[in-house]
Amino acid sequence: MKSAYGRQTPAPDYELTCVEPGSPMGELMRRYWQPVCTSDELRDLPRKEKLLCEEVIVFRDKRGRVGALDPHCAHRGTSLEWGRIEEEGLRCCYHGWLYDTEGRCIEMPCETAEFRQAMDVWQPAYPTHEYGGLVFVYMGPPGTEPLFPRFDIIDPDRGEDIVLRGMRLWGDYAVGMVRDCNWLQHWENIVDPYHLLMLHQRISGDQFDGALTQGKTDIGWEKTPLGVRYNVIKDLPSGNRMVRHAECIVPNMFIIPSIREPGTSPKRKERGTELSWAVPIDNEHVRGLSIVAWPLENGAPKPDWKPGTDTIADIRPGSFLKRSYEERQRKPDDLEAQEGQRPIAIHALENLAHSDTGVVILRRLLREQLQRIEQGLDPINTVRDPSSNKRIPTGAWNTILSPAEAAVLSYSEDL
Ligand code: FES
Ligand SMILES: [Fe+2]
Repeated sequence: MKSAYGRQTPAPDYELTCVEPGSPMGELMRRYWQPVCTSDELRDLPRKEKLLCEEVIVFRDKRGRVGALDPHCAHRGTSLEWGRIEEEGLRCCYHGWLYDTEGRCIEMPCETAEFRQAMDVWQPAYPTHEYGGLVFVYMGPPGTEPLFPRFDIIDPDRGEDIVLRGMRLWGDYAVGMVRDCNWLQHWENIVDPYHLLMLHQRISGDQFDGALTQGKTDIGWEKTPLGVRYNVIKDLPSGNRMVRHAECIVPNMFIIPSIREPGTSPKRKERGTELSWAVPIDNEHVRGLSIVAWPLENGAPKPDWKPGTDTIADIRPGSFLKRSYEERQRKPDDLEAQEGQRPIAIHALENLAHSDTGVVILRRLLREQLQRIEQGLDPINTVRDPSSNKRIPTGAWNTILSPAEAAVLSYSEDL
């Protein structure tokens, strides 16, 4: 027996998990556009949001421009969440100073115009960008903003009739309900396919549907140009073979292809329909935001369609709702497993095994990026050349091979 008496809990892996300003991972995260809310959430009131341990006030002025400002008014510090949205910007509730979306104070109603000009007050602000129905902020060093990366599945020019919609994971649709833990626990879970077999299938019994629950499974991992993916190969009872990949894209993006694939008709590379971000709110909370490529029918979003990971709430009843403690103990889900790793998992206490290969590759890849930042280099997935920012190939999809194809095709990167 290894007694629990007097044991000490080491500190979390600060380098990989903590994201406050100035922390290594916080600086890495700040080199990418991070989503803060959906575009249609910016209405006639400002929103106070928190990400990477910082609060920002996000708003859209009445001319349609989006700003992300430090919450505390540069005058005497009142929170701009109580401010009023106007044509030209956001007006502080206390003495009416008006800030435009860049943070410049353009009106001080209690002062003269000469005084305001002489003061030249700027509210600290971050650059913003809207894409695919989401609002992004760039919280890195000024002037280092990369282009917003046009991955193939969210490139409007991807050759299919789609409309991009910004959605909240766990709000608009579901892949589990994990929220109250460190972002890395949730992100690295994407390349942990063994938990599908154990947690969702053997332990809790009924948490998936279709081909994912059938047949013999072979599991592998590989680095991709963007990050890491798993390779799951399933020989289905029908004789068809399923090849499936889910991908983590550095630093905190991921793609999960449809979890409802029935595996009945042969198909090649049916890609995921959502690019998602696990955005750290702070070190112990994570938020999910996605761009969903929604198919069009006669020019309008197809009404009966759902994102490929949407029906978890249907096939895992209760996973999206409040469940009793007993129910959670009998049928634990992602929330119980991941939040149960502690608010921040303690890497020093883990015993990583072969089945954690994806996690190991991912953490190594993150550490390499931390070094690149230290050396003054751009980290992976920094896009600066507009001519290469087009349909950047992602690596997550479902392929179904017929028995005849399965007999002649051995696994290759392209399946
Ligand atoms: S505190 Fe904002 S205008 Fe005075
Ligand atoms: Fe899961």
